[in-house]
Amino acid sequence: MKDILEQLEQRRETARMGGGQARIDAQHARGKLTARERVDLLLDEGSFEEFDMFVTHRCTDFGMENQKPAGDGVVTGWGTINGRLVYVFSQDFTVLGGSVSETHAKKICKIMDMAVQNGAPVIGLNDSGGARIQEGVDSLAGYGEVFQRNIEASGVVPQISVIMGPCAGGAVYSPAMTDFIFMVKDSSYMFVTGPEVVKTVTNEQVTAEELGGASTHTRKSSVADAAFENDVEALAEVRRLVDFLPSNNREKPPVRPFFDDPERIEPSLDTLVPENPNTPYDMKELILKLADEGDFYEIQEDFAKNIITGFIRIEGRTVGVVANQPMVLAGVLDIDSSRKAARFVRFCDAFEIPILTLVDVPGFLPGTSQEYGGVIKHGAKLLFAYGEATVPMVTVATRKTYGGAYVVMASKHLHADFNYAWPTAEVAVMGAKGAVEIIHRADRGDAEKIAAHTKHYEDRFANPFVAAERGFIDEVIQPRTTRKRIARAFASLRHKKKQMPWKKHDNIPL
Ligand code: HXC
Repeated sequence: MKDILEQLEQRRETARMGGGQARIDAQHARGKLTARERVDLLLDEGSFEEFDMFVTHRCTDFGMENQKPAGDGVVTGWGTINGRLVYVFSQDFTVLGGSVSETHAKKICKIMDMAVQNGAPVIGLNDSGGARIQEGVDSLAGYGEVFQRNIEASGVVPQISVIMGPCAGGAVYSPAMTDFIFMVKDSSYMFVTGPEVVKTVTNEQVTAEELGGASTHTRKSSVADAAFENDVEALAEVRRLVDFLPSNNREKPPVRPFFDDPERIEPSLDTLVPENPNTPYDMKELILKLADEGDFYEIQEDFAKNIITGFIRIEGRTVGVVANQPMVLAGVLDIDSSRKAARFVRFCDAFEIPILTLVDVPGFLPGTSQEYGGVIKHGAKLLFAYGEATVPMVTVATRKTYGGAYVVMASKHLHADFNYAWPTAEVAVMGAKGAVEIIHRADRGDAEKIAAHTKHYEDRFANPFVAAERGFIDEVIQPRTTRKRIARAFASLRHKKKQMPWKKHDNIPL
């Protein structure tokens, strides 16, 4: 028995060494951790239970029968994050470049199936040269099986991808279908075709970093939700995110202990909105002042900064926040901000996370580049996302809420549950200047008349009271009381049940 146990330990030790010390050293020399070191940092200490440590590939082509490393380039299993169950796979670049074989894919599929059956998030740590070239179509089939599971798990359990090395070719489509993608600066990249193919096909010269590095995907393409300095920071941030999320679509998000009075009054909010309606202010200040302990987890911070999305807690419970940012393009809605917010709203709705919407929006951005880019369809995404959401929704208008954007931003007409406005709110079809130019065109040359018309328009519409008279705004509230108001509103909605008519699925404009 002693021998058998020793043999087992030896086999385990060999598997744990992956591609061997030299390759582990090379991984470290690039500033990257190994697959196992990453799993250890991601999960609670000692909680990892591994599956399939001894799985090997079945390929006999290209001399592969002579190299059958145990585990086949991916470490899979389950463990906990702050005590809550998660499933994880971590590709091992030291073993055949982390390339995906038929059996490598099967290992990933196994934990994805278990995650769905047991209602727990899947976290994928990606570091791979892509399809195992020696296996041909078997490898592609393996990817296909993973893709299908990504699709079936979408909206059932949260799926998080961390890109910690190469991720190229069709391989990018598995992370692309997950809920959140994080990248590590300078050591990860994602692209459908690499720089060499780009050069051959289009003659364009570009580095891997420019084509698909973390900065490209967090600032330009919006493929990734955040980028972190190194592996350690990325994994710590995944742990922080998981704390905000429910384990699956049938459970509520976890309730965390909180030490912040839900009835906290914030006198400084009374002066947050400047007197001049064209002067910007930082909407993040409001978010931080509303959140429990000022804790805000921002999603897509570097993309479409005219809208802010992320998670806070109120009374220890997760709330998704969507907020126009007057500091950037006056908080206007455009293609990018609509897409960013729509996807976030749909994530929250799929996972029963209540939504707080903070509105200061002058409308949709006009112009040919927006129209040619399809702002109609992209703006409709956000409209659609709010309109189909059945989670508790509380909206606070702080200042401008004009035109189509008024309706889109979780208005009463899209069945938000509570619509509050600060006394500084202006609910109107458009701002006074534009409105007067149109409806009093005949008086254009007469400055005195224009001034009188503008004053009349402002008196009539530059306030929340017309909307409040109609019940479109439930209550005009003092800014300082906003946290208390929204805390009470969400508390009253904890058992909200709303059903939409049966359908196979909707046809959101894509
Ligand atoms: C088999 C692979 C491999 C692969 C890397 N390796 N990628 N083995 N299949 N796809 C092996 C290498 O042969 C090498 O083995 C070891 O992994 C480390 O690779 P290096 O090239 O030495 O590392 P590095 O210089 O860091 O370059 C990493 C890399 C490069 C940029 C990822 O390896 C590369 O370009 N690989 C091929 C990428 C690719 O074209 N993949 C197919 C994409 S298409 P040894 O033994 O020499 O150390 C795809 C389709 C998916 O994935 C479709 C889904 C539907």
